[in-house]
Parts: sequence; C-alpha cells; structure tokens
Amino acid sequence: MGLPGIAFSVESIEPESAYAVLAKAQALERAGRDIIHLEIGEPDFATEQRISQAGIDSINAGQTRYNPTAGIHPLREAIATEISRRCGRRISENEVVVGPGAKPLLFLPTLAIVESGDEVIYPDPGFPTYEAMVRVAGGTGVPLPLIEANGFSIDLDVMRDRINDRTKLIVLNSPSNPTGGVIPFSDLEEVAKLAQRHNCWVLSDEIYSRMCFDGATAPSIAAIDGMAERTIVVDGFSKTYAMTGWRLGYGVMPERLAAKVSLLAVHAFGCTAHFTQFAGLEAMTGTQAQIDKIMVEYQQRRDVLIDGLNSIAGISCQKPAGAFYAFPNVKSLGESCETIADRLLADAGVALLPGTAFGSAGEGYLRICFAKSIPEIFQAVERMRACLG
Ligand SMILES: Cc1ncc(COP(=O)(O)O)c(C=O)c1O
Repeated sequence: MGLPGIAFSVESIEPESAYAVLAKAQALERAGRDIIHLEIGEPDFATEQRISQAGIDSINAGQTRYNPTAGIHPLREAIATEISRRCGRRISENEVVVGPGAKPLLFLPTLAIVESGDEVIYPDPGFPTYEAMVRVAGGTGVPLPLIEANGFSIDLDVMRDRINDRTKLIVLNSPSNPTGGVIPFSDLEEVAKLAQRHNCWVLSDEIYSRMCFDGATAPSIAAIDGMAERTIVVDGFSKTYAMTGWRLGYGVMPERLAAKVSLLAVHAFGCTAHFTQFAGLEAMTGTQAQIDKIMVEYQQRRDVLIDGLNSIAGISCQKPAGAFYAFPNVKSLGESCETIADRLLADAGVALLPGTAFGSAGEGYLRICFAKSIPEIFQAVERMRACLG
C-alpha cells in the first residue's frame, strides 16, 4: 500500500511563479548579490496612515471577534455604493460578499458555478489563479489569447469559435495582469452578447480598475444591459490601497449566487478579520487624494520603463493602459522568454517573470512590475541593456 493520495485536480495545479522567482532571487541575495525586484505585483507604497489607524483603533476597541460571513454592514454598503457607480444601477448590500483578499472571491464563485463537463474561458496570458480554480472545480479550461496589436484585448474571433453550450463561465480581467491591457467597451459588448446567447456567467476581475493611465477608465461588463443577472465583479483593496497583507477583497454578484458563495465562505474561512474590514471602510470612504497622487507617480514610472525598454535592441513594448505591469515583446532576441528571464536574474540581478508564467500565449514576452522607484527602474533597464545587448 502506497501513501494516501492527493486529488488529481489539486496534484496538477501549478504554483504562482512570482513566488518561485522571488525565492530564487532571495537565495541570490543571501549569497551577497544585489537584486532589483520587478517580479512581485505589489505596490511599494506603505498603507496610508489613516487606513492603518482605523485598523488599529478597531483592534483597540475589541473588534477582534467573529463577525458576519459576508462582511460587516457598513463595508458592504460602501462597496455597493462604489460598484453602483461603476455599473450604473443601484446595487444592494445583499449582492456583496467580502472575503480575505480578492482570491477567495475568484475561487468560491467558480466552485459554486462550475462542475465536471463545464468549460471556462479565461485570458491567456492571464492571472494563474484562473486556471487553478477551474481545475479544482473540475471544469475544463479554455484559454483565450490576448492580442498585442489590439492593446492586449481579447481575440473575439477565437472567442466566437470556442464558446459553445458547454461554456459555463467567461473570466475577464481588465486592466490585465500581466499585460496592463484594458478591454474596450465595444469588445465587452461583443462578449456580453456571446454570454447571453450561450447563457453563461461572466467573472470580471476588476482589481486594477482604479489604476488606469492618461485619464482613461476601464469599463465594466457589468454596466451592459442584461449582464447584472450573470456577472460577478471581483475587486479588492490590495493594489488600489496598498493593502496586500491586510487581506481584503470582495465580489458583487446576483443575490441568489451571493447566498451560495456566502455558504461556501462559512465553511472555507468563516469570516474576514473585523479590524481589516474597518481599515477597508476607511480606505473606501475617506479621502481618495493619495490614490490620485500615486497614479501620477506610477504613470511617470511607466513612462521611464517603457522608453527604456524600447531603447534596447530586440525589445519592443507597448504603453500599458492600466495596472502596474509592462509586457515587453522579446521575440526578436531569439531565445525562450524563460531563458531570457533566467539569464537576467543570474547575470544581471534583475528579477522579472517570463510571459509563460501566465499561459502558453505568454511565450515571447516578459512581465515587469513597475511598482518600484524611478532610480531602480533606470538601473534595471541599464542592467538589461548590458546583459541582452
Ligand atoms: C488579476 C489579479 N486578480 C486578483 C489578485 C488577488 O488579489 P488579492 O491580494 O486581493 O487576493 C491579483 C493579485 O496579484 C491579481 O493580479
């Protein structure tokens, strides 16, 4: 008799390579190397003092106990108000489920919707959790290529070809991790028509929706007529408010699904830390001035990075419209993106991710997080030039 088995669906899931590259980079640092970290998608700003203070005040007030699974009433109400603005209709707090990060609000709705035999369309390259959650739910993943020439929007022709009556869920992510691309409203209208024709759900991961450049906004598919009853909007506090370690996110979905997702949440995590939710409430309802300031800073960093990358022979890089990622095309360098990423880490001390960490359509690209200071970005570009030149 061998060892007790692990479910095949779990045995076969892949880790997030950002963590693997971080571990490798840290091992090099322990050996005395100087590494510039552009691999992890995390703001380098501290959580604003007013937000941290709200969390501390909450702990001091003894708000450290169990609380309602779907989240505390004032936070759900604040989220409903925010998403009502984005979707152009009045959303009730019963449509809101709060959780420890956006990730559980990707996973739990997928578990509630998808079963064996169901197909799920998700972006390729795309955030690795999408593939993992579909596998764990027992569904069949159908990766959908993003097109560089269209600002990394989705390939609608391929979607029309791949969608069918077994398609249960379409996952969208705009602005996108890893490309920084924003899906234009006209493309969302086409996706909405397809979702309605094939009666499927849409999970719209909008965690970077407040992070758009050049005064643009990222439209939400939830704002399109007929989509309210089939859309789950996922968002969170990690990126916009630099609160990655607080663990706070949410999903907004039809009440009948929210009730089932809350049931899964009862059994999976019970509730989200009370004081974290009070910090989130302050984040959302207090002054938003800091976000505007940070976005000006991110835009300057983006411009420095993209100009720098485009000045290196063999690299071409579009200006991302949102998030804090650049996704340069390195196909002309003639090596796999994994080899290039490994070489940049080992020889130049620049930690970044190969595009294939996000799916096979990421071959020929690198993902660079520019939530770093401008001097670090300058230095990273010069090291890349010296290494690849
Ligand atoms: C596209 C996308 N969705 C969701 C998440 C998860 O965010 P959270 O920290 O709220 O779980 C991330 C984090 O990197 C992300 O890039």
